[in-house]
Amino acid sequence: MSGVTSTALCLLSILAAALANYPRPYYPEPDAVLDFVAGNQKITGHLYFYRSPHSVTIRGQIHGLKPGFHGFHVHEKGDLSEKCVAAGGHFNPFGKNHGSPTDADRHAGDLGNVLTDQYGYTHVYIVDSKISLDPSSKTYIGGKAIVVHEGTDDLGRGNNEDSKRTGNAGGRAGCGLIRHLYRQPRPHHRSYY
Ligand code: CU
Ligand code: ZN
Repeated sequence: MSGVTSTALCLLSILAAALANYPRPYYPEPDAVLDFVAGNQKITGHLYFYRSPHSVTIRGQIHGLKPGFHGFHVHEKGDLSEKCVAAGGHFNPFGKNHGSPTDADRHAGDLGNVLTDQYGYTHVYIVDSKISLDPSSKTYIGGKAIVVHEGTDDLGRGNNEDSKRTGNAGGRAGCGLIRHLYRQPRPHHRSYY
């Protein structure tokens, strides 16, 4: 074996060893997951939910919505049948009016709008401190549904009765069930130090 070849092999094995011990660089494992199913529109997509002490972060993507803003809410039942209609109304454990995520007077499930680009791609990134992944919380969202709507949520500013109830977000483009994973703590791995 030539000196060049053995040097190359040596470097390769060092690289392989380094990669094998490389810390997982991306996102932590989610606390809950969701797969979208079609409602009135043939959408697909998925969401990951991350639990923090005082908030929930939602990230993911949806394909197949029309370009523009779409109402995005937690609905009260985890039933996706009847083209998402069986999911019921907005998750509202405190009997409040519909509003924007930043309003004090809002349904717990009011997460505002998501924005779809000209190609029908929707990137979801939401941090919300009203909903919870703590099963003892009144605003626990495990087992409930997310519905993404065909139209834009007016966030309670529509000056009509439905605005304070649904945000006039229109039909249900699609929905999914929030599946809490109750995962075990991850085992120690030396590369985390
Ligand atoms: Cu909704
Ligand atoms: Zn609402």
